Amino acid sequence: MHPQTLLPFLLSLLAIHTTACNPTRRSTNTNTNTTTPNPFKIGTDGPAPPKTLGYALNHMGLITNNLTAMKTFYGSILGMRTLFDVTLTPEYTVTYMGYAQGGRNGTGFQTGTEMTTSKNNMYGLLEIVEFSVSDDRVVASTQRTNTFSHVGLVVPDVVEAQAYLEGAGVEILKGVGVPITEFEGAVPNALGVGGFAGAHLEAKRRLVEAQGLIGWENFLLLRDPDGNLVEIQQQDI
Ligand SMILES: *[C@@H]1O[C@H](CO)[C@@H](O)[C@H](O)[C@H]1NC(C)=O
Ligand SMILES: *[C@@H]1O[C@H](CO)[C@@H](O)[C@H](O)[C@H]1NC(C)=O
Ligand SMILES: *[C@@H]1O[C@H](CO)[C@@H](O)[C@H](O)[C@H]1NC(C)=O
Repeated sequence: MHPQTLLPFLLSLLAIHTTACNPTRRSTNTNTNTTTPNPFKIGTDGPAPPKTLGYALNHMGLITNNLTAMKTFYGSILGMRTLFDVTLTPEYTVTYMGYAQGGRNGTGFQTGTEMTTSKNNMYGLLEIVEFSVSDDRVVASTQRTNTFSHVGLVVPDVVEAQAYLEGAGVEILKGVGVPITEFEGAVPNALGVGGFAGAHLEAKRRLVEAQGLIGWENFLLLRDPDGNLVEIQQQDI
């Protein structure tokens, strides 16, 4: 893309609220304080170190208290497929899941063998490591702010996704079209502005002001069985 068209293009990516199938933003999101500087800055990094050409983020790892429940949530409900399970003991399994991105004849279907074969040429995989040995359950970021914030998905239609997930019995933490108003509880904890972030009062205020800018209202937020925040955004159409 030509550099002169890049900035408008990037800004258009942010204009999630203009997407036809989404509700309009609420006026509560409009920042009328023109003296507040725009907090959004496009990155200005130059080319990456040549030695890193071809590097890619392939997977992120989660520890789970209950692999069965996670496979139901990410697999049966959210549609990821299992590449493989490595069961080392009854309580300790390493599992790879991801969306089938190739697929045959338009179905998007790939076998576990096909996905496992192309694993290191795929992106956006989840490695789920089961750790279900004791009552020493791992605490999720929706319960207590920690270094993990959330899993982020994109879907063709976030409003339809909400209806589908509600129908599947998934707990919706924040529906499409709902702004941030509170700084206690699951979502603020996972975003680092919850009850454990007392020193971040100014950040909390700024987040409320900035939520229109980042399209926040139209994000759909869920909690997976372990209590990790799952954020679902609208794909560009
Ligand atoms: C507007 O933003 C500035 C800079 O953050 C702040 O000092 C000022 O108090 C704000 N004014 C109002 C009315 O919120
Ligand atoms: C794991 O989750 C499943 C539901 O997916 C449930 O039936 C099972 O009791 C859970 N196991 C433990 C140890 O909590
Ligand atoms: C398309 O691929 C799926 C998955 O392999 C297969 O079940 C189906 O029969 C195929 N359909 C056609 C028309 O080839």
